[in-house]
Amino acid sequence: MPVPVIVLNFGHSVLRSLDDYTEAASEIYRHYRQGQNVVAVTSAQGDQTDMLMAEARQIGPDGAAKNLPELIQLGERRSAALLALALERIGAPAFVRQARDLGLKARNATLVNLDVEQLEDDLKNHDIVVMPGHVAIGEKDRTVLLTEGGADMTAIYVAKRLGIKAKLLKDVEGVFDKDPKSAGAAPQRYDRISYVDARKKAGPLVSPKALDFAEEHSIEFDIGTPGIPSYTTIGAKTGTLSPLPAPKKLRVAMLGCGIVGGGVYRRVKANSERFEMVKIMVRDTAKYIDQGYKPEELTTNIEDVLAAKPDIFIDVSGPVEPCLTYCKTLLENGIHVVSANKQAIAAGGQELVDFARDKGAQLMFSSAAGGGMPVLEMCIRERGRITRVEALLNGTTNYMLDEISAGKSYAEALKEAQDKGFAEADPSGDVNGSDAAAKIRLVALLGFGEEVTLEDIPRDTIENFAPATPPKGAMKRIATCWKDMNGFSTKLELKDLSLNNFIAQADGEEAHAIFYFDDGDQYRIRGKGAGRWPTTESVMADLYDISATYF
Ligand code: HSE
Repeated sequence: MPVPVIVLNFGHSVLRSLDDYTEAASEIYRHYRQGQNVVAVTSAQGDQTDMLMAEARQIGPDGAAKNLPELIQLGERRSAALLALALERIGAPAFVRQARDLGLKARNATLVNLDVEQLEDDLKNHDIVVMPGHVAIGEKDRTVLLTEGGADMTAIYVAKRLGIKAKLLKDVEGVFDKDPKSAGAAPQRYDRISYVDARKKAGPLVSPKALDFAEEHSIEFDIGTPGIPSYTTIGAKTGTLSPLPAPKKLRVAMLGCGIVGGGVYRRVKANSERFEMVKIMVRDTAKYIDQGYKPEELTTNIEDVLAAKPDIFIDVSGPVEPCLTYCKTLLENGIHVVSANKQAIAAGGQELVDFARDKGAQLMFSSAAGGGMPVLEMCIRERGRITRVEALLNGTTNYMLDEISAGKSYAEALKEAQDKGFAEADPSGDVNGSDAAAKIRLVALLGFGEEVTLEDIPRDTIENFAPATPPKGAMKRIATCWKDMNGFSTKLELKDLSLNNFIAQADGEEAHAIFYFDDGDQYRIRGKGAGRWPTTESVMADLYDISATYF
């Protein structure tokens, strides 16, 4: 089954500051974790184009200079590189392609060619492709620019050639009956709008040339803003107007504030229109006050957390108890729980999932397995047709095995994994396999509807791993869950894998997984299995999914 793909264009109004690239990467990640591959088309950041134009005026010839596009394209290319870096930070598999690499050609400022096979290959190999908009190759092989707002045109053209949909992301949630920033009665948004009406109502929101091109080729596309699931579709017909539902600002409390908690704290603060951190429960408040947290944000007891009336409780701590009890207490009170605590969730099992449902609260724990690799989303989506899952489920182990195979000692490799924030506070579970085993239990539960205990999972340890000879391929510790005529089984095995194997290609803390389906189909996913930002992003995506239910 082909993987669905979407083209997302990030306009300059949503790329105003460097922080906006983090938000853009989050938007892409949210699509990726829903099972979509993404072509991200970038505009230049804010006023970068004006700055480059000013430089050109100082040095270049007057009038239309043939080499001007060489300079101006750097704005869009810089954006593509920054977005790819932001994606890499959260462990999303991004790959940058330039217009020239993709045979993106223009004549008279209109796109006329794309090497579709190349782009499809890139998507197969990298899942997310980032490319600058507005830039193309013109006559005599020169770089040329499309007209004003050309990144819209790039996104629409690429989507048309791939036979998929483009979504243009701007700083407004779609097309309105009046300027959404104007005074007076609240503006209303169209769910759909025709090309003709869009010319009158969308104003400078969409490049007129892109709109003409879309109309001429009957291409539908969407206009929206990052983080808001609804949007306006531009196409043949105008639909209905409705008031824009404002997202409720959700109160968030957190249990634990270590590597991941610190990341979540920063991202929640950066998304202050949507979320407010109302309480953080830790063992020792003084330690966090020293780190700059405000005393009133911190507590050591769960009663204070409840009194803060959170909408969502985030568990980024490690042990089963008292965390599992706390989660149940919060769920009991109808408070949603987002958990990265794989041991607590695995121990709670189906009973905990049922408990949350009975209390009418959402229980989400994407970050509890796979870090930023959306392995549990895949389990939920495809349950019923999965016959086998092979996955790297512990980033620390993968990192250590690579380093030891390259000549480092076990102690050195472990110390580095701890310093980089991959290992748990007590890393014994990382190396002896109980961390991966808890994640196997979550895959078994969500992907197969099976509850297994730690004792049911045969597992290889990597404690004091020191191979006498270097591996022939790559040493990996693979978690496998499968069902066959003998029933359901799991194991955690150390293997020397051929370098051609997709799982063997995960470097360092990266995680790879292969899903096998009952119709013979396979699906591969990847991400970073551990570390602050990949895991934080996974928590944030759960927060956004909960937030979406409040519109
Ligand atoms: N210690 C864990 C790992 C963190 O290395 O995979 C992510 O769950």
